[in-house]
Amino acid sequence: MTDDVLTVHGGTPLRGQIRVRGAKNLVSKAMVAALLGESPSRLYDVPRIRDVEVVSGLLELHGVKVSAGADDGELVMDPTNVEEASTDEINVHAGSSRIPILFCGPLLHRVGRAFIPDLGGCHIGPRPIDFHIQALREFGAIVDKAPEGMHLSAPNGLHGTKLELPYPSVGATEQVLLTAVRADGVTELRNAAIEPEIIDLICVLQKMGAIITVHTDRVIEIQGVPRLHGYQHKPIPDRIEAASWAAAALATKGEIEVLGARQADMMTFLNVFRSIGGEFEITDARVARPGVTGVEGGIKFWHPGHELQAVALETDVHPGFMTDWQQPLVVALTQARGLSIMHETVYEQRLGYTQALNQMGATIQVYRDCLGGTPCRFGRRNFKHSAVIAGPSKLHAADLEIPDLRAGFSHLIAALAAEGTSRVYGVDLINRGYEDFEGKLGALGALVERL
Ligand code: EPU
Repeated sequence: MTDDVLTVHGGTPLRGQIRVRGAKNLVSKAMVAALLGESPSRLYDVPRIRDVEVVSGLLELHGVKVSAGADDGELVMDPTNVEEASTDEINVHAGSSRIPILFCGPLLHRVGRAFIPDLGGCHIGPRPIDFHIQALREFGAIVDKAPEGMHLSAPNGLHGTKLELPYPSVGATEQVLLTAVRADGVTELRNAAIEPEIIDLICVLQKMGAIITVHTDRVIEIQGVPRLHGYQHKPIPDRIEAASWAAAALATKGEIEVLGARQADMMTFLNVFRSIGGEFEITDARVARPGVTGVEGGIKFWHPGHELQAVALETDVHPGFMTDWQQPLVVALTQARGLSIMHETVYEQRLGYTQALNQMGATIQVYRDCLGGTPCRFGRRNFKHSAVIAGPSKLHAADLEIPDLRAGFSHLIAALAAEGTSRVYGVDLINRGYEDFEGKLGALGALVERL
């Protein structure tokens, strides 16, 4: 067990307001995009999270000057003097995040070579990078895998190509975008991911001078341009963090207003939240009222005060129910009457955390079959990827070890909802993706303390 421990005295409803800033899964990619420009970029509303530190470190190693701007959360990235970095220096970041894989295209364009360390990120299945490598090779990159990482070069430059992803992977779509924008000629990507964070990355790239068309049916066309310049961008809000706090409100029978959350990015989540019996109000209308300034809206989420209802759900690529919304919501589902079903179709091993919930009194059974929805890629491959949650269950305190970012947050919610005092080990992992979560817990009246 690790020594970063949070003691959680559970059973108190969380109440109050917190704010979410730019989405982790856009901010880190927009930072990589800055490398493609030949003048400085400015990103606003950047959360203070570990993933931002890792990408800042990698950018600096490659000669990008990263500094804080005048506004809180403003990040300035100056890529005027981009240079190669040594393998040893880059390897310091090995295992810390999955973002380094996205440096391939930008580095090949800017310095002609790239070295990518071993990747990190959450342990939620094998998380292969075969789509990335295949795409890079089709652009003309030479990819050499070595024990210390991956070496890439493009002696004949990078050229536009026609690609079709076997699955609409978020990362592989970003890889293609970040490579195609400065490749020679036109790229057509079929079966692309179209998550709001991807569309926002396309907005960033368009601001830089890229020409990208999003067609219907997951087809994206990119017309390569010889050079790009810097951008100024306010990222979309973090819809995963917003949903995590919404689930915390429901599980603890509380009321949380998530300032900055945006309805358009969360429609699927809001429908499910309502089906369970959760109540919400979109408060961003306040911002638009004439004559009202300095008031920020978002979404207020609360428990209805009566019993919650079970639902059958499956995770999917956008516009489906996000895989990252799954873990926090399952904690709330332990409080719903009846049998809920959660069919995880994006990652094959993302239900392991339910064991800890069972240890706290939940009744969750995991199955290898595709339950409750359409058969998915994992049905015949022996992965336990469907869960049946029987509720309501009275949760009691336990000692918990955080396994990964989203499961970690769900452990925290479970400890906050449970009667008694839990000890949550490894909480620092949560800082990878949730800005100042301890400060926010304090603001919501949670009774937590560091040991
Ligand atoms: N896949 C492959 N081969 C590849 C790439 C992906 O088989 O080369 C598979 C994966 O194994 C997975 C599926 O495709 O089964 C989807 O993976 P995807 O590439 O879409 O995920 P990712 O880009 O690695 C991002 C987010 C994840 C989020 C997923 C799905 C970032 C940094 N990460 O991961 O977020 O769950 O998209 O929306 O953007 C998190 O924030 O905690 C997190 C894990």
